[in-house]
Amino acid sequence: MKSSVIVALSMVLAVSARPRYLGRRQDFKLKNGQDAIALNQKFATLTPASSCTTGEQACVNDQFAQCVNGKFQLQPCAGGTICVALPLVNSAGTSITCDTAADRDARIAATGATAGAASAAAPPAASSAAAAPPASSAAAPPATSSAAAGNNAGTGGATGDAQTSTTLLDSVIAKGFAQDGQAQPEAGQVASLTSTNNFINFCATTNKAITNGQQIKEGSCNPAPMGEIAAFTNMPSSKFVNPKNNDKVAANTNFTIQMAIKNLETGSFVNPNTNYFAAPQQVNAQGNIKGHSHVVIEQIDALASTTVTDPTKFAFFKGLNSPADANGVLSVVVTGGLPAGVYRLASINTAANHQPALVAVAQHGALDDMIYFTVA
Ligand SMILES: *[C@@H]1O[C@H](CO)[C@@H](O)[C@H](O)[C@H]1NC(C)=O
Repeated sequence: MKSSVIVALSMVLAVSARPRYLGRRQDFKLKNGQDAIALNQKFATLTPASSCTTGEQACVNDQFAQCVNGKFQLQPCAGGTICVALPLVNSAGTSITCDTAADRDARIAATGATAGAASAAAPPAASSAAAAPPASSAAAPPATSSAAAGNNAGTGGATGDAQTSTTLLDSVIAKGFAQDGQAQPEAGQVASLTSTNNFINFCATTNKAITNGQQIKEGSCNPAPMGEIAAFTNMPSSKFVNPKNNDKVAANTNFTIQMAIKNLETGSFVNPNTNYFAAPQQVNAQGNIKGHSHVVIEQIDALASTTVTDPTKFAFFKGLNSPADANGVLSVVVTGGLPAGVYRLASINTAANHQPALVAVAQHGALDDMIYFTVA
């Protein structure tokens, strides 16, 4: 009943919003181009020593820059590209990304904006890069007033509490999700899914059960956002202290796994049966992910085995739910030990809701440890 009301409401909105949206599109195109020009001019004045606000993104010396603890951390762009601000094509805003200078200039020119003064010329029709889903994006009401009000009225969100409202705040919409990434082509790279509403209804496009805090063996679709992403300087890391790589352990005898860990606020552990993947990752005041670790031991054929392992099978598994000791070491006894054989021991460092740790950059050392040992 409730959902049919919402469906009917959104169809009405889609119809009435359409002409207005197309009008707005012309407006934001030129402005996006002007904003991109202004940003690129500002970035040209920045240096690695420039002050910044934590979380801020920019381009510094043609490199992608993210502000961590008041200081820019630079990451070079891939070959032939530089860090640039680009106008978004399908919604108001700009994005900061790696691109060629020529493509940057073409995209800005396509908006009608020029570096000297704002052009009065009506911008041309969207370029091919606007390969955004035309139907769905046109039908989606712009994330503003009337749609928001309609939704809130129907869901008791009238209190204005963003954490109970079923309407997205404009301030949390990731405008960059509207582009599919193919503006910077790379061999083999495929187009990303795009969204102008943070994929809030993505699971409705799948044929999967909602994860709903459960460990659903058949797979599912999880609607929780990823949450706070740990800074480059706070990426968790672990190392086994016992057993060590290549150690020999007595068969069928208790032994203690000890693992040193840093940059994880251990001891944060939610109910895995009711709250699995059910809340965003959070970081503490020091910037460390609030979470816990796990250890898993799998039997393998030999130390030099090249057989791909089967994650559905393991010899020992334990969540390390307690905080690490004063030396930053987590411990667990393998009661009764293991039968003779060769084994692999790995950590699984996670956020409180058991999701794998999420960190600021793609290129980083392993966030987990893995060692091999013999039981005899
Ligand atoms: C093995 O570990 C278990 C669990 O910690 C403990 O209860 C038991 O006494 C240990 N056995 C030996 C022989 O140390």
